[in-house]
Amino acid sequence: MPEHVLEATGLHRAFGDVHAVEDVSFALPEGGSLGIVGESGSGKTTTARIVVGLEQADAGDVLVRGRVRGAPGRGRARRLARAREVQMVFQDPYLSLDPRTGVADVLRETLRLHFPGTDHDRRVRELLDQVGLGTRAAEARPRQLSGGQRQRVAIARALAVEPAVLVLDEAVAALDVSVQAQILNLLADIRQDTGIGYLFITHDLGVVRCVTDEVLVMRRGRVVEAGPTAEVLGAPQHPYTRLLLESVPRPGWDPEAIAAARRSL
Ligand SMILES: Nc1ncnc2c1ncn2[C@@H]1O[C@H](COP(=O)(O)OP(=O)(O)O)[C@@H](O)[C@H]1O
Ligand SMILES: [Mg+2]
Repeated sequence: MPEHVLEATGLHRAFGDVHAVEDVSFALPEGGSLGIVGESGSGKTTTARIVVGLEQADAGDVLVRGRVRGAPGRGRARRLARAREVQMVFQDPYLSLDPRTGVADVLRETLRLHFPGTDHDRRVRELLDQVGLGTRAAEARPRQLSGGQRQRVAIARALAVEPAVLVLDEAVAALDVSVQAQILNLLADIRQDTGIGYLFITHDLGVVRCVTDEVLVMRRGRVVEAGPTAEVLGAPQHPYTRLLLESVPRPGWDPEAIAAARRSL
């Protein structure tokens, strides 16, 4: 078995003159958690969308367990198999859930699509339990749920497919800080229980510190620094990483000085 569940080699993607992603490579070990951090516009989401297959790279490959993912293709079986390789959790659970469908039915639909011909009641209960949603939430529609509960539903739906990798793009950014902590803890538990690899995309260094083993720092489409999270955040080598660390609000924080330093980079 290859040691990496997910690999990206030399990804490029331009939108006209904008080089959103330039020569981005990384490797995620089986069951590992890799963060991609950078300011808004640094190319994180474009990288995520290429990995998932929502965006085509101009160059470079994405490999899952050593096999190139290739083009999406049209066949239904191929599409489903691709979906089982990588699942994505988006920032805004409000947009990714059908307002008319109850939580248990959301999960049942996904299970029916991927694992037809079996009874899914037990698996639905298992998934709800795994993401900490009770039986009352199971019957609710998305608008009756809190933001945190909705994100739990989105996570359960992604897990239902039994993916090799979960790509989380700003998955906790829309939530209150206390709810963020609950969801981050939940995600850590799920990774431990399932061995699913995480590609964790965030602008928030606190999140990176909390839930990743390794991190890539992106700036203007390029990787400026990469390594074990503790090392990169503990002893950043690149001035941009230092600046990101200094930009985290804390007592004595001087936004003017940071803005000046950023201009001079
Ligand atoms: N579909 C698109 N069309 C044109 N430009 C895009 C598109 N998607 C992203 N970009 C541009 O690519 C750059 C990287 O964007 P993005 O990957 O969303 O960064 P991030 O997620 O780090 O904020 C930005 O300059 C953005 O405006
Ligand atoms: Mg983004």
